[in-house]
Amino acid sequence: MKKKHFSVLVILLLLTGCSNQLNDFNWKFWEYFMDEETTEEIVEEVPENEEPVEEEKPDENSETEAPPETDENQFILDEPFFTVLNEEKVIENTDNILVLVNKNQSLPADYVPKDLTIPEVPFSFEGDFDKKYLREEAARALEDLFAAAETENVEIFAVSGYRSYETQYGIYNTYLKKWGEEKTNAVSAIPGHSEHQTGLAMDISSRSAGLDLTEEFGETPEGKWVKERASEHGFIIRYPHDGEVITGYQYEPWHLRYVGKEVAAYMDEHDLTLEEFFDRAIKQ
Ligand code: DAL
Ligand code: ZN
Repeated sequence: MKKKHFSVLVILLLLTGCSNQLNDFNWKFWEYFMDEETTEEIVEEVPENEEPVEEEKPDENSETEAPPETDENQFILDEPFFTVLNEEKVIENTDNILVLVNKNQSLPADYVPKDLTIPEVPFSFEGDFDKKYLREEAARALEDLFAAAETENVEIFAVSGYRSYETQYGIYNTYLKKWGEEKTNAVSAIPGHSEHQTGLAMDISSRSAGLDLTEEFGETPEGKWVKERASEHGFIIRYPHDGEVITGYQYEPWHLRYVGKEVAAYMDEHDLTLEEFFDRAIKQ
């Protein structure tokens, strides 16, 4: 501090009698009287730089479960529903409701379902014959299908259900004598290879088709209704039009096979035969 000048300042302050005036002085003037060390530039206090807040990112190392790969063309199915064959391609799990019986695999000759029952539906014939029977689950589903038809004034009749190995033997050999092997094999199953032996198949018809099992049934209002609505009740048309290359049999719009609602709906939606369904089915 320069003593001489400081004295002048003190005198000035005394003269004004108001030390508050100091506040009004220009800083430059004040600095002049201060030591250099105290004249550091006054800088606005800036808050210390805060650490930038990082956006929360998902932890790349944390284990997150990948969603299961799904393919809408596949159908997840419990293992017991797949058909099990022995070395001779004879079916072992015969009571499986989705049993696949075709030209390549057969039922044992002595297989008879244990829960056969007569569904309460109109039949095209009178009397108590084997062909009136179906397995319990299929019989109840057929009753539902026929009840739905009735409420919409669609009149259909059951014609032929369960058939034993021996009955199929008689039918097949009658055709064989009449038509020969090629034509017979396009319409009739070798004994043991018929779905009718499972008790899960029922042939149906209508008055408009003469209560016969003919391709014309598929063109009748009743045949069209059945094609449209069968899957809602768990049935499929087992031998569809143009399906011969896969099923081995000509078109049979009358042959209904019970597979349950879920599988029937899937097959209907994807326009599949039972063989194609099992090509897509994945074991659970
Ligand atoms: N008509 C069918 C294929 C059967 O004989 O089982
Ligand atoms: Zn049939």
